[in-house]
Amino acid sequence: MSEAAESIFSLVKASEGGAPLYLQLKKNIEDAVQRGVIGPGDALPSERDIAIKADISRVTVRKAVQDLVKSGILVQRHGSGTFVAPRMERVEQSLSRLTSFTDDMARRGMSASSVWLDKGIYPPSPDEIMILGLSAKELVARVSRLRIANETPMAIERASLSLAALPDPEAVGSSLYSTLDKTGSRPARAVQRISAVNLVGADARLLEVPEGSACLHIERISYLASGKVIEFTRSIYRGDAYDFVAELRLAGPGEESGGTT
Ligand code: GLP
Repeated sequence: MSEAAESIFSLVKASEGGAPLYLQLKKNIEDAVQRGVIGPGDALPSERDIAIKADISRVTVRKAVQDLVKSGILVQRHGSGTFVAPRMERVEQSLSRLTSFTDDMARRGMSASSVWLDKGIYPPSPDEIMILGLSAKELVARVSRLRIANETPMAIERASLSLAALPDPEAVGSSLYSTLDKTGSRPARAVQRISAVNLVGADARLLEVPEGSACLHIERISYLASGKVIEFTRSIYRGDAYDFVAELRLAGPGEESGGTT
């Protein structure tokens, strides 16, 4: 760390008239981020090292860091440490084109990657039976992933498909749609339902957003050209990362002007 960055850790003891130590540390880190002394993606020293540098307890460091994580200034990545939150570049996403996450990111020159949350074959839920048109005895393939663009977690996607469409979920590599493409099962049409949610718990941690952040819940039901349902995916997209854009046209004579599918 530079000398300027090291000044984050100089605190004034209460005996010398200083404010509570965790508040001082929090403010110093906030100021350093604001002034650009430490920038998006920069790593902070470990909790132990900060405690030594600032001559305070690890509990005090943790309290300051947790507060900054809650307010979205810092992010914690399991096993790799604490970082200044990356600057969010908003992604504009058309609502009228049926594309995959991998395609969307490639078109923007960003690299798409995923962290696997689940990949397997399960007894279906009532929703999956109904939407995928399964019998209660059939099983369902599920693939759940944290979707990442460059280094930034963008969405959590939990897809369910019939075994006829995806007999071996283990065969899915970096793109579900490329896997479906190989067997001629890539969706030709889809219906999406978008609603607002406030994220809490594990999903907020995965997306590296503060608890309670506004996000978009997107449910996609995709169809083959034959009209058969091929995919039922529930996704959570970061509200601070996406702008969804739809082109609207005046309804022609005889066309319905309202309602959904
Ligand atoms: C989008 C859709 C998902 C779909 C996914 C496939 O993100 N919201 O419903 O499953 O694309 O993406 P990929 O082929 O990159 O796995």
